[in-house]
Parts: sequence; C-alpha cells; structure tokens
Amino acid sequence: TYVVTENCIRCKYTDCVDVCPVDCFREGPNFLVIDPDECIDCTLCVAECPAEAIFAEDDVPADQQGYIALNAELAKTWTPIVERKEPPADADEWRGVKDKLKFLER
Ligand code: SF4
Ligand code: F3S
Repeated sequence: TYVVTENCIRCKYTDCVDVCPVDCFREGPNFLVIDPDECIDCTLCVAECPAEAIFAEDDVPADQQGYIALNAELAKTWTPIVERKEPPADADEWRGVKDKLKFLER
C-alpha cells in the first residue's frame, strides 16, 4: 500500500485525489490518508503531490514509520474525498516544515 506522511499536514493540496483510480483517499481537517485496504499500488499519486508526502509502504522514511499505522487508523473513520479542492491559503508556507504531527487535527 501507499502511505501519506507528515509533509501533507497543513498542506493538503489534494492533487493526489484526482489521479487515484480506486478513490481510496480519506479526508480529515488538515491531512489526507490512504485506506490501505483499498490502495492497489498503482503509484500514480506519488508524482502528483507537490509536497512529496506519499511513499510506498516499504519506502517510508525511518522517522515517518508511525504514519503507516496512522493512515490505517484514520482511514476507518475519515470521509472519502474523490475530487481535488482548494488547499489551505497558507499551504505553501507549511510545505517542508518538520515535526508537523503536533498540528494534526482529527
Ligand atoms: Fe490510489 Fe494508486 Fe495512490 Fe494507491 S498508489 S492511493 S491506488 S493513486
Ligand atoms: Fe496531501 Fe500531497 Fe495529497 S499534500 S492531500 S498527499 S497532494
């Protein structure tokens, strides 16, 4: 499966959503996750993300490993998102900022 990691928090560009053939993105207030039970490993979303937030499960960086379980957990309750929408107005300011997990809203 593919995994959304920290760089998505407060960026949430949603370009990833438009290319997913199986609509497996789920939306929270300031972050998206991938439902691991639905992702078919097509890889298309990786190149679409301006924040480079999406990794194959086997390639998730060492300091982001917790996001594998976090995607699975949040996907159970968050809502499907199937179309791109406007990102937060300050998305570009948060791009690449480290340690954003504390800003995650559930
Ligand atoms: Fe969707 Fe493909 Fe990305 Fe999986 S790898 S989330 S199926 S676009
Ligand atoms: Fe997040 Fe990148 Fe998608 S910032 S919403 S994973 S395009």
